[in-house]
Amino acid sequence: MSRTLFVTTALPYANGPFHIGHIMEYIQADIWVRFQRMRGNTVHFVGADDAHGAPIMIAAEKAGRTPQEFVTEIAAGRAQYFAGFHIGFDNWHSTDSPENVELSQDIYRKLKAAGLIANKTIEQFYDPVKGMFLPDRYIKGECPKCGAKDQYGDSCEVCGAVYAPTDLKNPYSTLTGATPVLRTSEHYFFRLSDPRCIKFLQEWTRGANALGQPRLQPEVLNKAKEWLAEDETAGGKGLSDWDISRDAPYFGIPIPDAPGKYFYVWLDAPIGYLASLKNYFDSGRAKSIGGTAQTFAEFLADPKTEQIHFIGKDIIYFHTLFWPAMLHFAGYKVPDSINVHGFINVSGEKMSKSRGTGVSPLRYLELGMNPEWLRYYIAAKLSAAVEDIDLNPDDFLARVNSDLVGKYVNIASRCANFITKRFEGKLGDHDPAAAKLEHDSAFAQDEIGRHYEAREFGKAIRRIMELADAANQYVDACKPWELAKNPAGEARLHCVCTSALTLFRDLTIYLAPILPDVARQVAGFLRISLSHWSNVHTTLAADHQIGFYQHLMNRIEVKQIDALLGLGPEPAAAPAAGATPPPSGAAGSHISIDDFARIDLRIAKIVNAEQVEGAAKLVKLTLDVGETENGQPRLRTVFAGIKAHYKPEDLIGRLTPMVANLAPRKMKFGLSEGMVLAASFPDDQGGVYLLQPDSGALPGMKVK
Ligand code: MSP
Ligand code: ZN
Repeated sequence: MSRTLFVTTALPYANGPFHIGHIMEYIQADIWVRFQRMRGNTVHFVGADDAHGAPIMIAAEKAGRTPQEFVTEIAAGRAQYFAGFHIGFDNWHSTDSPENVELSQDIYRKLKAAGLIANKTIEQFYDPVKGMFLPDRYIKGECPKCGAKDQYGDSCEVCGAVYAPTDLKNPYSTLTGATPVLRTSEHYFFRLSDPRCIKFLQEWTRGANALGQPRLQPEVLNKAKEWLAEDETAGGKGLSDWDISRDAPYFGIPIPDAPGKYFYVWLDAPIGYLASLKNYFDSGRAKSIGGTAQTFAEFLADPKTEQIHFIGKDIIYFHTLFWPAMLHFAGYKVPDSINVHGFINVSGEKMSKSRGTGVSPLRYLELGMNPEWLRYYIAAKLSAAVEDIDLNPDDFLARVNSDLVGKYVNIASRCANFITKRFEGKLGDHDPAAAKLEHDSAFAQDEIGRHYEAREFGKAIRRIMELADAANQYVDACKPWELAKNPAGEARLHCVCTSALTLFRDLTIYLAPILPDVARQVAGFLRISLSHWSNVHTTLAADHQIGFYQHLMNRIEVKQIDALLGLGPEPAAAPAAGATPPPSGAAGSHISIDDFARIDLRIAKIVNAEQVEGAAKLVKLTLDVGETENGQPRLRTVFAGIKAHYKPEDLIGRLTPMVANLAPRKMKFGLSEGMVLAASFPDDQGGVYLLQPDSGALPGMKVK
């Protein structure tokens, strides 16, 4: 029975770029989603920016923007991360959206009708200069206990005392320096203390998901029990009511029938999950998946729909108490599972929530580091427990280089070319001696599938690497490179490579949720579908024609990691167009290695070549240099003076080195964005020969 899943990740505050913690969460959820799809399940995977709240309002003001402009600019920067790390959200939306206004106000009205909204007048610090009530984080003062200066309103960093902002001595507003004054204001509360809420939450937190498994991890359930049980034992006080209103000025959603009052950001933030889903369904795009022809409302009402949230350990309270209670008492579907992960640290160091770590995901991409290295490493570290994980540079290098490239990629790179070169790309019979291996490999799928389902990605990878070890041992024992030296070994070579590629095919399927791009390339070269988990049971037939193998993945270089961590020199950057190179020094006709490094030579694939009307010598080339722009391949145009030597149609599909950082030149026929390299004598005596790399080179590789 196939499942229908609605999956989200926490909605990031729209106050800055993503840090590695966000990316880790998206990678975790994305792997799980891809796995579910490979099992034939329908998944709607959505996210959004969490746009509201005082900090964003204040940040926007500092940046000289309206809050709307500010969050729109942040939102525009998101796509490059998703494309860069292969994170396949079906929709990305914002909590500052019409859908969210509608849903938030609807949920509020229903909670009110259920008698769960109460009004209370509270006393709060107010900044008379700024003219606004101050969130606790904008108030500082002297610790009431030890007198330490400049302490926040909730606790003292010097003596550890915990107190209320009103306890601070000589308090001041961090926004204006003014002394805050106490003012009263009417606030709206969600009555979590209502016995109905407690009863519902006690049941919901202990409940099971659609697979009959606990919806909360054991450590998360324990936390929830603590929060809930406190009330049973502590004289029936109940959970505290939750203050859901803020006074103007506030960037948020207006509370119906309450002028000047807005929903506190944490009320409308999770509703943003539904807003993004609604936006997705309303756009019509959701229908094409799994043939669903439901509306948003029908989808949510469908008992088959499972709602699953991936979040970090710091926001458990919101997702296990407020959120399910809000939904339940407003008559909406409640979450089936909350999947909580720990934090990612870098080299053992905690990172700041707002500033992130020294590892910038964008820098990672700019350095040309392979996103699948990071996906693999993070997956290898993840389990279903709420544990922090560490991004350790040495460990990262070792796991990727020795396991991923050294074990997995190695199998294909040792066998594929024999099939292409010796057997016209046709597979042969399977090696009877490998029958058990092939069988074990295909039947590991249940176990590996269980690990993926349970988010035990580390365990899945360990099992996959055991299979990779077995496959390598097989190749080591059969020595195809020895067989290839002797004509008598021909038949055996054929079946050994066929069996080895079958094992490689299985490994690729098992790794596909983690390495979607590698899986795509392998499906292309093996000319088979790898998109379904059950594809491991398809026998690769003798005579099946495969394509040309191109190297799948490089090893990480130490200097890339150094550059990522800001330890090494900047990577050779393209000089600004028109800049004059420095003189090459005293070495006369010699140039230094640095001079050479200024030339950015790259492998390009000629994806199109055509005559240029009116040009005597030029051919117009369209080149793929492995570049992308907004997730789309970015192609370059280069005009090359090779018309007398090549027919355009013979050039298409070829690889050739090019100078990628040559200043673009405007020509009569258009802009030329680089130069391809060809060999010739002066005056083209003896012809002109386009250079071509050895087979295995890929577009975008650097020539050095
Ligand atoms: N806006 C709220 C969530 C609202 S959900 C309705 C928020 N935003 S956040 O940007 O601070 O965090 C977004 C997610 O990133 C959270 O799940 C959080 O736990 C996660 N992470 C933040 N730092 C992290 C690490 N260092 N490591 C892993 N995940 C981390 O909270
Ligand atoms: Zn103190």
